[in-house]
Parts: sequence; structure tokens; C-alpha cells
Amino acid sequence: MPAISIRPGIYWIGVNDRTTDLFEGMWPISQEGVSYNSYLILDEKKVLIDLAHSGSGSALLQQLYDLIDPTELDYVVLNHLEPDHTGAIRLLRNLAPNAEFLMSAKAVPMLEAFYGITERVRAVADGEELRLGAKTLQFLAAPFVHWPETMVTYEKESKVLFSCDAFGGYGALRGAVFDGDCADMPFYERESLRYYVNIVARFSGPVLKAIDKLSSIPINTIAPSHGLIWREDPDRILSLYEQWARLATEPAPAGVTLLYGSMYGNTEALMNAVAEGVSRTGMPLDIFDVARTHSGYILPSLWTKSGVLVGAPTYEVSLFPPMAQTLHMAEHKRIMRRKAGYFGSYGWSKGAFREAQAITAKLDWVWGDPLEVNGGPTRDALREAERFGEAFARSLMD
Ligand code: FEO
Repeated sequence: MPAISIRPGIYWIGVNDRTTDLFEGMWPISQEGVSYNSYLILDEKKVLIDLAHSGSGSALLQQLYDLIDPTELDYVVLNHLEPDHTGAIRLLRNLAPNAEFLMSAKAVPMLEAFYGITERVRAVADGEELRLGAKTLQFLAAPFVHWPETMVTYEKESKVLFSCDAFGGYGALRGAVFDGDCADMPFYERESLRYYVNIVARFSGPVLKAIDKLSSIPINTIAPSHGLIWREDPDRILSLYEQWARLATEPAPAGVTLLYGSMYGNTEALMNAVAEGVSRTGMPLDIFDVARTHSGYILPSLWTKSGVLVGAPTYEVSLFPPMAQTLHMAEHKRIMRRKAGYFGSYGWSKGAFREAQAITAKLDWVWGDPLEVNGGPTRDALREAERFGEAFARSLMD
């Protein structure tokens, strides 16, 4: 996509990545893609804000060359050192010998650690301003949104916030770069939530602090480094991020995430009966086969729903391993204080429920009595499973 003007003298020069299968080497994006949004400001001083993944470096340079010769760059702002925004730095550094690299003090040793770069590097302070001519940049620390060195950059005259990871989302840009031109907002809002829970959720406290800090600043446009630019309704992504961040400590809306795995169909038969019971109550319900669904897609449901049903067989006296893996990921992301229920089939030994409780012990999940069936479920057991699902869903209405 060619460079796009955001405001006079400010350009999006990002690149789409539709070939990386796993973001951060672990989160699936094969179907959705991702964008690395870089921005160019042309004033008396010329500034590039954030870069791209190393594999997208030549595409980024092509975008840049369409507007200026990189030797004309005065500054390169690095809001965040994670390599999805800095991987192209070696390439750029050689082509922009006059540019000074600006970043937070904590980012300076990271730049050396990742790339061995120590020259033409300057740390900027929280609140520091940089006059470019008609425009002025202000650098604002936003630690742990996403790493400790992270900052955001605000252009005061145009009121554009270059927020890097904050307010970003998965999803390559599908022609439209601005929210106001986007015909598929449900896709971007869903992918922003998935990105939030996969990447940022563990730092929800710092996200709320950053939102509070930014609340005193007039913002016309939020220009993140992933996903859409929010120019028509920047408050929309701000309020979504705030709502998601609050779920780290506040109760989630009533709803059920039903996780299941099944070796020979016995736990799956129970799951179908449990789901029937849940759906009888009208409670929102998401169902995931944990052996076939990456946790990157499951975590957003766990994050935004108050109840978790875990249906899994006992496997070698412990929990069916794909379920254990999913619950470990919930533990890693600190999905706290859920109401939980366990059901499953066992053969020669129980053990699954005990392990599910152990994995989630630090999360303060409140478990009800388990529904455990030896071998295949009888008709009576299936009727009991329906009642189990219905009672669990009704308990979330209390
Ligand atoms: Fe998009 Fe934390 O990097």
C-alpha cells in the first residue's frame, strides 16, 4: 500500500505482514495477518516513528523512499524496542547516517543488547518536547505497555498520538487504514481484543495508568503501530482498551467458556449434554476443543466471561494434556476469580479434576462439585450432565 496522509505533513508508511504464521513465535495470525505501522513527519526536521519486523524492512524502505531519501531523516523515534518494531533498524541505520535515534532511557541498553547499536542514540525524558518546525513532538513514558521501556509520542499541533503497541490489534490492513473508512469493524475489534489478551493483558494495570495519564491530553487521532488508525472515533479504541484492562481486577460479564477435549468421544458426549443445559438458560456460551484450538483464540473468551467449564478426560492419572496446557496459559495471563466447573470421563483412574484445580490454584477460581463418569456416559449420566450445565449457568446469574 502506498504512503497515506493522516494529517498535513504526517504520513502512514506502514507495511502489512500476511506471511508470518505466529506472532511472537507463538500466536497464530496466518488467517488475519498483522500490520507494522510506521509514521513519517515532514517538517523542517524529518522524523520517522517506529519501524517494522526485519522481514518487512525492504517494504518499509520502499514506503519511505516514495516520500523522501532516508539520508534526509533527522530523527528516528523508537517508542518500543520489541523487534516487530525495530527489526529493520540495521538496514535503516546504514541508509540514514544523519538520523539520531530517540528513545526512553530504559530502551538505550536494550538497543545495544538486541542490535549492538550505541552511536547516534539519545535518551529522551518523560514529557520532553522536540520542536520540528511547525510541529512539536512530546514523548510520554508508558512503562509496560508493553515492555518497561515503552513510551508513546504525541504531536501537539495535530493532536496525533503515536501509541505503538497501545491501542493496537492484529489484522493486516484490508485497504482501509482509518477506522472511518473501514467496512469491517467487528473484525478489527475482535482482533484488537485477541491482541490485547494475547500480548498486553498481563500489563493491564500499566494500561490503565497510561490511559489515565493520556486523559488530560486532547487526542484527535490514535495512530498505533498495529492495525487501524483511529481518526474518526479515537475514543472507541480507548474505551475498549480501558474496558478490557479493567477485567484484570473487576468481575467479567456473565457468560460461559466451555473448554473440552475428548479421546474417544465419551467426554464429548458429556460436553454436548452440558452445552444443552447451559444454552437452556440463554447464557452466552463459547465452546472450544482445546486439542484443536490454539489458546490465542481461547484466551479472549476466558478474559471476558465469568464462568469456565472444563470438560476433559483423565489421562495417565492426570488432566488431558491439551487442557492442562490451556489452563497453564490462563494462569500465565492471570485470568483471575472465575467460577469453574469440571466434568469428564475416566477409565482406570481419576486425576483430571485434581490437576485442573492445582493448575488454577493461584487464580482464585471457585470450583463446584465435579461430574465424573467412569467409561462411557449412560442416558442417566447425560441427563445429569444437562442439569449440571444448566445449574452452572444459573449460578452465574447470582
Ligand atoms: Fe508490537 Fe510489543 O511489540
